[in-house]
This record gives sequence, C-alpha cells and structure tokens, in this order.
Amino acid sequence: MGKTTEMKYLFEPRSVAIIGASSSPDKIGYKIVENIKASGYKGKVFPINPKGGEILGYEVFPNIEDVKDDIDIAVISIPAKFVFDSLSGCAKKRVKFLLIIASGFSEIGNLEEEQKIVQYARQNGMRVLGPNIFGIFSASAPINATFGPKYIKSGSVAIITQSGALGVAMIGKTSAERIGLSAIVSVGNKSDIDEADLLEYLGSHKDTKVILMYIEGVKNGEKLISALYKVTKVKPVIAIKAGRSKRGAIAAASHTGSLAGSDEIFSDVMKQCGVLRAETIQEALNWSKFLATSPKPKGEDAVIITNGGGVGVIATDACEKFGVNLYDNLNDLKVTFSEVVPQFGSVKNPVDLTGQATILDYEKALQASLKSKSINSIICLFCETATFDANDFIGSLKNLSSNARFTKPVAFALFGGEKVESAVASLKREGFSAFTEVYEAVSSLGALYSHYRIAKELASQQSAEQELQKLSIDMDAISEIINIAKQEKRSFLFQNEAQAVMKAAGIRTPKTFIAKSLEEAVLFAERIGYPVVMKVVSRDILHKSDVGGVMLDLQTKEEVIDAYQVIMHNCKRRAPSARIDGIEIAEMIKGGVEVIAGARRDGAFGPIVMFGLGGKYVEVMKDVSFRAFPLTKREALKMISETKAYSLLLGTRGEERKDISSLIDAILKVGTILCKSKDISDIEINPLLIYDEGEGACALDIRVMLKPQGD
Ligand code: ACO
Repeated sequence: MGKTTEMKYLFEPRSVAIIGASSSPDKIGYKIVENIKASGYKGKVFPINPKGGEILGYEVFPNIEDVKDDIDIAVISIPAKFVFDSLSGCAKKRVKFLLIIASGFSEIGNLEEEQKIVQYARQNGMRVLGPNIFGIFSASAPINATFGPKYIKSGSVAIITQSGALGVAMIGKTSAERIGLSAIVSVGNKSDIDEADLLEYLGSHKDTKVILMYIEGVKNGEKLISALYKVTKVKPVIAIKAGRSKRGAIAAASHTGSLAGSDEIFSDVMKQCGVLRAETIQEALNWSKFLATSPKPKGEDAVIITNGGGVGVIATDACEKFGVNLYDNLNDLKVTFSEVVPQFGSVKNPVDLTGQATILDYEKALQASLKSKSINSIICLFCETATFDANDFIGSLKNLSSNARFTKPVAFALFGGEKVESAVASLKREGFSAFTEVYEAVSSLGALYSHYRIAKELASQQSAEQELQKLSIDMDAISEIINIAKQEKRSFLFQNEAQAVMKAAGIRTPKTFIAKSLEEAVLFAERIGYPVVMKVVSRDILHKSDVGGVMLDLQTKEEVIDAYQVIMHNCKRRAPSARIDGIEIAEMIKGGVEVIAGARRDGAFGPIVMFGLGGKYVEVMKDVSFRAFPLTKREALKMISETKAYSLLLGTRGEERKDISSLIDAILKVGTILCKSKDISDIEINPLLIYDEGEGACALDIRVMLKPQGD
C-alpha cells in the first residue's frame, strides 16, 4: 500500500474502535463517542469497555477481539500504564492506526514505554498517532474523533498541532473566525506519525487548500524538509512555532518531550522550504482564512482604494513591510479611476475617494479595479464617516461579488466604532476577507503573495543535488587527511591539514609552510615574500592568540627571527605542557570583506550551512543566516542577502562589488564536504575574505572538527 493510500484510512476510516469508551459523560472516553456520533460519521463505531452494554446507542464490546468487522482506527483512551497491554488485541484485529490519547509518556520522561509501544506497533503493521493527543477531526469522512468541541465547521484549512490544549482552543477560535476546517490532527509526542507524514497526505488532499502547523520542536528535520518542499509548491503551509525565547524553548521541550532546537535555524529553514511563518495565532488564522478563500493573484501590482488619506499612508507602509507591490503606472491609474475619484481626490495609488465617498463610489472603484488588466489585487480601506453606513458594504459587496465575481484577491479593512466592527463581523460571515486593522489586511495579502512567489520559484527550481554535482571536490584527498587525524586520535585538523582540505575543494588559502626550526622559518618567509604571518602549530593549543602564538604583518627577516623566538617563549610560558609541532609561516593577506562561512550537523535538521559577517565580532554582531543542506545557488544567494554583510558585498561608498559567486561556491563546497565526509562534524572559515568581483575569495582561518570516534 502506498503512503498516501495508507494515510487515507486515518482521515477516512471505515470503522473506528474506542478503547476506554465510557458511559460516564465526564470521561474522555465518553466525549469521543459522543463527538463521533454528533459528527454524522457514516462508518462503523465500536466502543470497547470490559463492562459491555451500550453507549449512546452503540453496542459496547468487552474486548476489541470480539468485534467481527475490520477496524481502521482505534482511539485508545485509557491510562498510559494500560496502553501497551491493549495493543495485542489491536494487532490481532489488524488495526491500521492507533490514536493514543493518554498522557504520561516521553513528555514526562517515560520514553521507554513510548518506544515499546511504537516498536510493537511497527512489528504488527500499525501506525501510531500520539501519544498525548486529543484525536483527529476529518471533514472528508466526516469524523470528529476528538474530545474537543462537538461541532466543527467544515472547510478547507487543515491544522496539524503539537499542542493538544491549543489545538482544542483553535477549533473554537476558527469557528468564531468563520474558518472552516478540512481536518485537525493532534500529533502530540510524534512517536511515529509526525508532521511530515501528514503533510505528504494533505499536500494532495483535494479538500485542503491551506495547511496550518503549530510546532514546538522538530524531531526528524530532514524528513520534514523533504515533505515541505513537495507541499509548498502546490499549497500554502503556515507555521506557528513556539519556543522562540530561551525560556520558551525549555518549556516547549518539556511540554511535548521534543528537541526545540535553535529558533534562528528553524526560522531560516522554514523560509527555505517556502513555509509562511506567522508571529501570532491571530496572524496565522488571518492568513489561513485569506489564503483559503482568495483567488490566486495573476501577477504582482496591487491597488489601495480608500476614503481616508491617513489609512492610505498606513497601508502603503504596510505594503512595504509585507512585500505587497503597489501599481504605479500613473497614466493607467488616471485612465482607470478618473471617473470615480472627485477632483480633489487622488488617482495615484492609494486611490483616494475622499471623505465624501459614498458606497456607490466604492462600488465603481472596485469594479474599475476588478476590470483593469494591470491591477492584480485590491486593498479596500474604509474610515467611518457620516456619508454612509459601513453596513451598506454588506449588501453592496454581495451584489458586486455575485455579478462581477471577485476574480482577484481583495482584502478589506474597515476602521471605526461599534457599527463598523459589527459590519466587519457580518462581512466575515458572508465570506469576505474583512479586518478591523489595516495591517492585518495587508499582512494577509502579503502572505498570499509570498506563497504565490514561493510556488512559482519552487516549480522552476533545479534540484540542489543536480547543481552540486557540478562542484569539483577531491574527496579521496580529504579522506586521506582525515584518516591521519583519526589515527592520531585527534578531533580536529591542523591548520595546514584544513588548508589542504580547502585546496582539495578548490578554495584558495594563503601560501603556507610549517617551519620546524628558526632557519626554516626564515627560508619559508623569503620564499613567500614579505609581509608574512606566523602562528604556532600545536594539537594542544586551539586558541593561538590567547597564548601569544600569533604574530602578524612581519616585514623583514629580522622581524621573523624575533617573532619566532617570542612565539616559542610565549607558548612555553602560557601553555607549558603543550606539544609544539612547528610554526606556520603564511602569506599576509589584506583587503576584501571578512565573512564567515561554515557547515555543521544540526540536531534537528541534519547538515546545515551558515553565513555571516566575519572576523572577531561574529558572536557580538550575530549577523548570520542558516540553510539546510543541500541547497541551490539561488537559495545560497538568498541566505547571503538576508544579512547586513550583504550590503558590504554589494559595495558600499563607491567600493567595487565583491565576488559573490566565489562566496556561494565556497558555501556550497563546505556543505558538500560535510555531507560527503561522515567524519566531519563542523567546518568553519573565519575569516573568509571576499575580493572584488572576478578576483575570488581566500580562506584565511579554517576550523575543521571531527565527530568523536565511535559515533
Ligand atoms: N479496554 C477497554 N476499556 C478499558 C480498558 C481496556 N484495556 N482499561 C480500562 N478501561 C475502561 C475503564 O474501566 C474506564 O471505563 P468506565 O468509565 O466504564 O469505568 C474507561 O476505560 C477509562 O479508563 P479510566 O481508568 O477511567 O481512565 P480515564 O478516562 O479517567 O483517563 C485518559 C484516561 C483520558 C487517557 C487519561 O489517563 C489521560 O491520559 N488524560 C490526559 C489526556 C490528555 O490530556 N491528552 C493529551 C492532550 S490533549 C489536551 O491537552 C487537551
């Protein structure tokens, strides 16, 4: 059975057993049966309870094995300590999905019991949802196998939530906001089924237009990335992630027993996969509704229609913030709106109908925008005035939409007192995207455009693997270098070895020699040409500057002799037990923009690359961005452009543009080396000097760390 076919039975089960069904109305095992019944579920329902009897008209079976029919899903609502024992009956009945409601597993440190359940389920061909969940609602069945609210409005937004209580609350909130759900799935501890499995299914689920995820931590990030790449190409995925702050991350980890991970990395990786990350639950719900109900834009260029200059300006600011492009062909705007706008108004964008605008003026302006071939979306603003009642919008828009059909995205923001607020509520009830806040309207349109661009870009994107194949890296040479370090039981490479790794990847490094004596030091310095840099080489000294082991800008033979003696003296005094393997003599490199580029293995997402402003202030400036690996050149450029360092690379104050393509090449190469060598845990080049365009880059200081042996 294919993955999607298999998942279909979770969303469209033909039969359901409730283990722990109870006739006590205050128990979860009763609520679930009650909700299933109220949802109008057409399949077979088998409550299981040793007492037998009847619950809500359904025959109760003392044991699941007493049921004659096949069972697709079993909702298990008995205390954690009894769950495992209930599985053998499910296995005998060849149940497809176990939905384990009980809390008391990995989220409180009881990982062993959870793993025992998953292992048994896998051995017996069963998939596990949970534990620590409130269940599932699926409109396609329809089935409400949750202990949340009884009635859930059907629609086209699917919610995947890691938090149970928040998920239940979201059902209530979506209903209040008139957002219909195609499904809501509680994933809890994600012991087996996780967001990635559900995304794969929902990606091709015809009743789902938008997917909203609430995530606290990612367990299998590589699987999630691959699912997201597939889905965001075809439908919007909105994420709310808790655990942004340090304390929040700790709270999230203990809530669902998962690794919360670094928020910066999560954020950047989600961006890379085309996920729209909302700041708040309200924002996520606004976006979900707007994206689920709006037609797709056919192009950029939006127009603002307003009766107040002030809100027009606020909306213009918001457009810049949320990436909504405003149409600015003045001639065309004049032709389109001159008949609608009074002489003292403005036909520029924002189109200002002025404070005397009537509902008729709004209708005409909307019609003109809908007809225009150049305008692709509309932000319609209204400030409460005495010229007409906000409620007039309701009938007028209903008329307009039934005659002209809203073939373009239109976001409404109506601002004013109680009457206006109630008009907004009515518009929402009628299915229009109306807000009481200008920013909310524009942010929703911005989210729609973000998805529009993402889908276009992902559809045309070459696969990262294809691009990376073109890089030439001598992995055999790199393995040889690493083997030497491994034989010597080192967890890092010496600078000359790290430089050799760079050489094998075609990344330039300064000319370097290792001198074993003062005579050799002078000889090498003369060979390289002045000025030179000298650094101690020692397996026991990682931070060379701290012990006085680095001397820069040495101009003459005499300075080299002095520096050699000073370095030796400093190291003997400050690190008396360190083994000195020699002194590195290197070409002194100047100029270029100092950046940092690196790759490492992240606990949640696997191989990741990072880029940022380099030099010694890296930690303080925190001007870094991340991406999961592999990635395309285009995505690497995006990653670079998210930092402040990017403006330096573009050339500030009359400076030349820097060699950004060499930088991209270096980033892709360090990522590839890390991925291809199972022994490397970390590569960092800091600084990596980026010269003027066409002149390349040079890796000045390279740190290559190896995984602990035996890992
Ligand atoms: N097969 C069938 N029935 C059984 C079995 C079995 N193996 N074992 C026990 N039962 C019966 C019990 O006799 C009882 O029936 P009764 O009411 O007729 O006496 C029924 O199953 C339920 O068992 P209880 O021991 O009464 O358990 P209770 O219903 O109190 O609690 C529950 C079970 C809900 C799973 C609880 O242990 C739990 O974990 N609660 C937390 C749930 C939760 O928060 N989930 C996660 C997130 S959702 C959110 O946060 C909103």
